[in-house]
Amino acid sequence: MCIDASVALIETSSSTNKINNNSNDQERREQQREETLDLTPVLHVKDVYKSFSYKNSKNNGSSSKITNYDHISSEQQQQQLLSNSTRSLMTSSHEVLNGVDLKIREGEFVTIVGPSGCGKSTLLNIIAGLDKPDSGSLLIRGTVNNTNNSSSTKRIMIFQESALFPWLNVQENVEFGLRIAKVRKERRRQIADKYIEMVGLSKFSESLVYQLSGGMKQRVAIARALALEPEVLLMDEPFAALDVQTRDLLHDELVGIHKTTGKTILFVTHNINEAILLGDRVIVLSSVLKDIKKEFQIDIPRPRDPESPELYEIKKQILREFEGDLQIAKRK
Ligand SMILES: Nc1ncnc2c1ncn2[C@@H]1O[C@H](COP(=O)(O)OP(=O)(O)O)[C@@H](O)[C@H]1O
Ligand SMILES: [Mg+2]
Repeated sequence: MCIDASVALIETSSSTNKINNNSNDQERREQQREETLDLTPVLHVKDVYKSFSYKNSKNNGSSSKITNYDHISSEQQQQQLLSNSTRSLMTSSHEVLNGVDLKIREGEFVTIVGPSGCGKSTLLNIIAGLDKPDSGSLLIRGTVNNTNNSSSTKRIMIFQESALFPWLNVQENVEFGLRIAKVRKERRRQIADKYIEMVGLSKFSESLVYQLSGGMKQRVAIARALALEPEVLLMDEPFAALDVQTRDLLHDELVGIHKTTGKTILFVTHNINEAILLGDRVIVLSSVLKDIKKEFQIDIPRPRDPESPELYEIKKQILREFEGDLQIAKRK
């Protein structure tokens, strides 16, 4: 784990980049200057494209691949070799993000909502440095860093099923990253205690992971992430596997944590209610555009009531965006 990655830029390695080094340096300086002037967002996802390639086999089961050529003529052998190699070369690509551009301000709580498969996790993985875009860049506080695909403790991801270490207790799990970062024992304990208390688990600091409920595990994951003092907390559907009551409770707790710590949070969900209850700003991602379709600034104080007329109106508008997506998908 790279603890010292205070800045990060994930840049593409296109051939034009290599050829035009000088003009690129100038562009980069220009870009940095623009970023600084523009109140330097803590995170800027800049014009990110991403597609996945799949290897296809044309073999649909009607004919099997021949590997023993002894019994066929040389012409047939050539044809068979060609067909086998063509079969292994067939690839198709699936575009997921088409020039996504997104700026996140310091201390903002941003939620990203979109139908399943629209690219939310892909976007978050790229921000976390767990995946690499085909082109585009990621700037942290407007600062350029050429390290490709560098995961950073400055952008910590919390997943739906956060992988805690089952052989360690709560305290040791929360301290783990700090231990790797060679933080001294007393300081480690101090930091872990603070965040374990913040997520309401002080009484369970000696408990092992298997003794905890799903909600408690996600609390440990939050405490573990906060202990590393990330600049941006990335959350990928972290409460999706929990029951409704636990989820409601964790929503309130997360809002409290955001208020206390002032952390910048980027939270992904397919649940519109969750997005509008939590976010200062809700970004709607479209699986048709493969880009941001709309965003909503929500200046309603928390705790929020999803049944309130203002929130209901926003929910209706987001649903309309979702429906638009489905209509276009049906017509395709
Ligand atoms: N590693 C991968 N390889 C190939 N396809 C992928 C990979 N990850 C995601 N995809 C595809 O990209 C699309 C977007 O996936 P994802 O970002 O997980 O969507 P979401 O989180 O919005 O549900 C989906 O069609 C998915 O199948
Ligand atoms: Mg996902």
